[in-house]
Amino acid sequence: MLTQWQAITIKNLRMNYLRPFLIVLITFFVLIQLYRPVRNNSQSNGEKTLNQIYPVPKEVSQILSKACYDCHSNKTNYPWYANIQPVGWYISQHISEGKQELNFDEFGYYSIKRQKNKFKAIASQIEDNAMPLASYSRIHPEAELTKAEKELIVKWARSMSDSIQSFK
Ligand code: HEC
Repeated sequence: MLTQWQAITIKNLRMNYLRPFLIVLITFFVLIQLYRPVRNNSQSNGEKTLNQIYPVPKEVSQILSKACYDCHSNKTNYPWYANIQPVGWYISQHISEGKQELNFDEFGYYSIKRQKNKFKAIASQIEDNAMPLASYSRIHPEAELTKAEKELIVKWARSMSDSIQSFK
């Protein structure tokens, strides 16, 4: 049980601090909205995209576009809440890390060795259910791949990695 004195002190504390605290919090929230990350919104795809340098079956291409391109290409379809910070920062972080590891729009600039490794990595990431990131597929159900879709991508990626030299 609180003594009367304690109760009064707590009440005073609330009155004295709660309002300024809220004002600081709201001001902070408003201010961080001003720091908008640069958008991943390139107009052209470039000349060395995966689809330009290799024949990619239509089904494979469709799966990669719907499940991977938001983070692994030069063009992201942003959800509305990307306009709200810090959500936008979080999304932007994933995009820049994702693109650094693998960018389908710049695939042709990679060395053959790197391309081979990336195809292998695609197969293993899909097999391990590591990609697309869970935080993404939870909000984008269309990116949740079916068993058949996964098998298709894995098979394609493995065959690309095995046969890649013969294209050049
Ligand atoms: C929400 C963003 C996001 C989506 C969507 C996404 N990725 Fe990633 N991906 C990342 C990030 C971030 C990394 C680097 C950090 C890590 O591995 O977790 C990464 C790493 C990878 C790597 C590792 C590259 C390497 O060399 O080890 C591969 C391969 C990959 N992703 C493939 C895919 C494929 C295939 C899809 C679609 C089925 C996909 N990703 C969807 C964000 C994403």
